[in-house]
Parts: sequence; structure tokens; C-alpha cells
Amino acid sequence: MTEQKATNVTWHEHLVTSEDRCKLAGHKGAVLWFTGLSACGKSTVANEVDYKLNGQGKRTYVLDGDNVRMGLNKNLSFSSGDRTENIRRIGEVAKLFTDAGVITTAAFISPYQADRDAVRELLPAGQFIEIYVNASLETCEARDPKGLYKKARAGEIKGFTGIVDPYEAPENAELVLDADNKGIEELANEVIAYLKSNGIV
Ligand code: ADX
Repeated sequence: MTEQKATNVTWHEHLVTSEDRCKLAGHKGAVLWFTGLSACGKSTVANEVDYKLNGQGKRTYVLDGDNVRMGLNKNLSFSSGDRTENIRRIGEVAKLFTDAGVITTAAFISPYQADRDAVRELLPAGQFIEIYVNASLETCEARDPKGLYKKARAGEIKGFTGIVDPYEAPENAELVLDADNKGIEELANEVIAYLKSNGIV
């Protein structure tokens, strides 16, 4: 639990409510939380879902690991404490987007179950959708689009997830995507089907 350091602060209710914003958008806000090993396909599926929803006139946004680490979270490393802080901040940002009525796809390794659960706790029930992009380490390492697994094996990256640092597979994901055997298009369609059958879009 992060300590509340600021004192003399008061919560302000907004004149325009989350419901007002969702009515304008024509759909609910939600966080589609993609988790999985580096190179499992999280960002690619998240972007495909985003692209399809945008094409259907939905309000969407992508929050992506490497990008957020070049801005908001540029002062964080890959130590376990900093990974937790990385996910905490992104969770708070995703909460704001959701409150604004946006369907937010978040693609982060987010290796720790407790950190993902903490984000779930931040959001209204049903609006945090945990999506496990399940690709084996063998698959991810064979793809290695950024050459990071090769570097990690050579000892050039400290604590690379799946090689040295742990990855805790989700225990209660709303969706598990079989990224070893299925293509991007099929996986993105599975996500959109879930959103439809659960009344998000
Ligand atoms: S997380 O663990 O804190 O959730 P995040 O998703 O933000 O990670 O960033 C992961 C990306 O950072 C990877 O896709 C990879 O490009 C890069 N990266 C650099 N060092 C590491 C590392 N030690 N472990 C995992 N990913 C790393």
C-alpha cells in the first residue's frame, strides 16, 4: 500500500459524472489489462483490438510498456519495487481513462499477481478485464523481435523476466489467449467477443 504523503487534501466530486461521459461515448469505460512475457504479443493484440474498436466508433486508447517507460515512468528501473510502482502508476492512469469513458488497452508484462490485483481493486467491478496473453517462453524467445532474450542469455540485461526474474501467470484472468497457436486477428476477435458478451460495447 503506497503511503499517502500529502496532507490537507480533499476529494472533489466532478459536476460531470462518469455516467454522463459514458452516455456521450455510447459505451462503458474499461481497462483491458494485457499481461504476459516480453514478446508474447501483448502490444500487438492490444493495438489490433484498439484499431478494431476505433473503427467501430468507440473511444479507445493504448497504454504501452516501452512508451510509458519513456515518459511518465522514465525514473523507474526493472527492480521488483520499481515494477510494482510502474504498475501502480499505470493503474491510476487507466482508472482516469476509464472514468472518462475510454476503453483502455494496457500492455505491460506486469509480472506480479499482487500488482495486477491492486489495479483490479482500483476499478469498479467488471471494468478491469485481465487478459493473459499465454505464449510459452520458448515461443517468446524464438520470436525475440528486439533481441532482448539473446542479450539476457548473454548476461547483458539484469533480471530479464522469464530468464532471471519471475513471471506469475494470472490466477483469475477473465480471458486467456492462446498466443502459441493462434494469430493476432483471431485473438483480437476473442477479446472483442468478450467485450460484447459482457456488455462493455
Ligand atoms: S513491467 O515488468 O514493469 O511490467 P514493462 O511492461 O513496463 O515491464 O516493460 C517491459 C519492456 O521493457 C520489455 O518488453 C522490454 O522491451 C523492456 N525491458 C528492459 N529490461 C527488461 C527486463 N529486465 N525485464 C523485462 N523487460 C525489460
